[in-house]
Amino acid sequence: TTVYLADYRPYSHPLDRVELTFRLAPQATRVVARLHFRPDPARSPGADLRLDGEGLRLIRLALDGTPLDCQPDDTGLTLPAALLPADPFVLETEVEIAPVGNTALEGLYMSNGMYCTQCEAEGFRKITYYPDRPDVMARFHVRIESDLPVLLSNGNPAGQGPGWAEWDDPWPKPAYLFALVAGELVALPDHFLTASGREVALNIWVRAGDESRCAYAMDALKRSMRWDEQVYGREYDLDVFNIVAVDDFNMGAMENKGLNIFNSKLVLASPETATDTDYERIEAVIAHEYFHNWTGNRITCRDWFQLCLKEGLTVFRDQQFSGDMRSHAVKRIEDVQALRARQFREDQGPLAHPVRPDSFVEINNFYTATVYEKGAEVIGMLKRLVGDAEYARALNLYFARHDGEAATIEDWLKVFEDATGRDLGQFKRWYTEAGTPRLTVEEEWKDGIYSLTLEQHLPPTPGQPVKAPKVIPVAVGLLNPNGDEVQPTTVLELTETRQSFRFEGLASRPVASILRGFSAPVVLDRAVSAAERAFLLAHDTDPFNRWEAGRALAKEVLADLAAGAPTVGPDWLEAMVRLVQDDSLDPAFRALALRLPGEDDMAATLAAAGKQPDPAALHTARRRMAAALAGALAPALPGLMEATQITGAFSPDAVQAGKRALHNACLGLLSLRDGGAAAEAAFAAATNMTDSLAALAALLEIGRGQPQLDAFEARWRGDRLVMDKWFMVQVLHAAPDQTARTVELLTARADFDWKNPNRFRSVIGALSANHAGFHYQDGASYRLLADWLLRLDPKNPQTAARMSTAFETWRRYDSGRQGLIRAELARILATSGLSRDLGEMATRMAG
Ligand code: ARG
Ligand code: ZN
Repeated sequence: TTVYLADYRPYSHPLDRVELTFRLAPQATRVVARLHFRPDPARSPGADLRLDGEGLRLIRLALDGTPLDCQPDDTGLTLPAALLPADPFVLETEVEIAPVGNTALEGLYMSNGMYCTQCEAEGFRKITYYPDRPDVMARFHVRIESDLPVLLSNGNPAGQGPGWAEWDDPWPKPAYLFALVAGELVALPDHFLTASGREVALNIWVRAGDESRCAYAMDALKRSMRWDEQVYGREYDLDVFNIVAVDDFNMGAMENKGLNIFNSKLVLASPETATDTDYERIEAVIAHEYFHNWTGNRITCRDWFQLCLKEGLTVFRDQQFSGDMRSHAVKRIEDVQALRARQFREDQGPLAHPVRPDSFVEINNFYTATVYEKGAEVIGMLKRLVGDAEYARALNLYFARHDGEAATIEDWLKVFEDATGRDLGQFKRWYTEAGTPRLTVEEEWKDGIYSLTLEQHLPPTPGQPVKAPKVIPVAVGLLNPNGDEVQPTTVLELTETRQSFRFEGLASRPVASILRGFSAPVVLDRAVSAAERAFLLAHDTDPFNRWEAGRALAKEVLADLAAGAPTVGPDWLEAMVRLVQDDSLDPAFRALALRLPGEDDMAATLAAAGKQPDPAALHTARRRMAAALAGALAPALPGLMEATQITGAFSPDAVQAGKRALHNACLGLLSLRDGGAAAEAAFAAATNMTDSLAALAALLEIGRGQPQLDAFEARWRGDRLVMDKWFMVQVLHAAPDQTARTVELLTARADFDWKNPNRFRSVIGALSANHAGFHYQDGASYRLLADWLLRLDPKNPQTAARMSTAFETWRRYDSGRQGLIRAELARILATSGLSRDLGEMATRMAG
């Protein structure tokens, strides 16, 4: 059944306090819940009391101590109004659940012998009967009974003894923020003194042996806590903050109040086992979950349609944090690359939906790039439009006005209207309309006046054929032909479909740098000559647009090659040769500029321009392009590699990471020319995972590397997280005609534990990330993916549904491939017992 935003009604029976007792046992955990209701005759007179509950065995039900005889149905329990007192009452339930059999990893489940929970979005109903909706906020007191040594829940410790522990959370919260952990865990302890002098005990809980890999996460946590005080004025509000790493986790991490639970790959890091990218993600996700304490927990969402209220804002905040910790320019480029790869792709296909959707079948299917990453872009635009000072004022008002509440996007926008006096009626369309606007540009130079005419085009998306013009902040700067900036960045506000902006007092016709910093999540459709792009790449003062100019040049080269051009023209190659040797540029920036456009990205670009992408041709073209680049850079590579060689101790900081990125980009190019000699030597000499994996990838890319794969396996076979990389790198770098076969071999191995989401993603996720391999013409990869989705779905529908998005791009391709994918979607849809998760995804994709 479909749930609609328009159907929202407040909950009938206010609830203030919850007491939970857990008697843990793998097969038969007992959960006793005492719910303290406070009837409000004004709220919903005469309403029945409805509690959500799924897969629970009801043992006992009592109202103020008197047993009640009510039979639950498949999705919950209804207490008829006639049975309910008018005065406050306590409803007590006891249920039995079996965490050990919970393979969906939602609710209370077990991972490596340890109990843990994942309740967002609707997992709490698998733990006990409860109004499982975010607008019901209550104070929780939790008692855990178990012989396991470490027993954790939300809030502050409230006593413990042999075989039990109690926790009390003073802050009212929705059930999705509930968490419980029990196991044989050890902690990396630390502490933090808040700005107002509160001492907070910090702990990162892991399995014995992993403590030595927690230092970076702990450091990131303390930096996050400080940053939120300094930048947003937000202090932590409990005596303890616990983080737990678990191996089996559907997503990245979860912001449960005072007890964040993480996928272990986003906590554990050592130089030998984690790449620079891992370190960067750990820092970002630790920050993200911590920042949720204010944007998500203290102020939560009224209903799940408002998910972007907490996620968009919290992603925006973690992006700001990472920029402050590392490099704003590099972070922005990486974020835009990810946005285009995932969110633009989503917007272009059958799964397109607004940042605030208005209906869903399964909410877990809406934890998307649109809600998260485009949600963050929308906040960035708002900040750009109102300015930094007004943004800060608005945020203070938001925290003051809505603390302790479950809010909406309307509330959020009203705060900005009240704080700034701006009318945001038109801006709101960013939340309600799906699709990526496309911007065209006309320039005119006459009588010393330069005018830019911008026009917005809003492609239709499923269910939204026609759209109204958006407010688009377009950051623009102008350079004169010498390369000097004659107009520093200014933000043009495009509010009409078509609008002109004039710049006066210029001595000569300027070169425009448009959409600086990627000031809005739009596609700039603008034909620019290769010479002008090369000019911007050399002279633009805006680092994002500098990178973007190189990117655009590269995409044109790739498109031309794929369309049959015999050679790579000189503009891009010469620009790359210059850029790579420009020591005034951050090595991380140079590494990003050297990275060739991805094949999926190129396919999307072609499809949007009405051309049909040929995956095989794109793959060949990209290889030729890499070879041409390696040739042009050949004389420079040895010197560059020398200059970017790290001497001294490993540090995961941005400076070293940037050097390694450039060094390894050069290694990849060099190995296209030296038969892999340098990469073999680099692999043998590597002392950190970044360098090992880069060398391995470089070898696999040229069809070598088997001895190195074997050595890697021999060294790391006991380490799940590192072995995930071993699985993944082979699939990502398999030749197109070998990809399905590689996956078949890997999935036949005993250590392909497909019920572990990380392992499943490392192989099946990589299958769809290998564009040419996934779209290999015989359809073997499509079939393989569908087989695995159908196998996983009964066990773990959430991860199956997420992985199914590999099929969302099918309309881009030729009729042969379209037919093959449609047949797989039809086969999925024809399967009996399909989950609501995968069922909804396949239905929407089949369209
Ligand atoms: N709120 C979590 C985060 O953004 C994600 C939890 C998603 N869980 C889910 N079942 N969809 O950090
Ligand atoms: Zn989040």
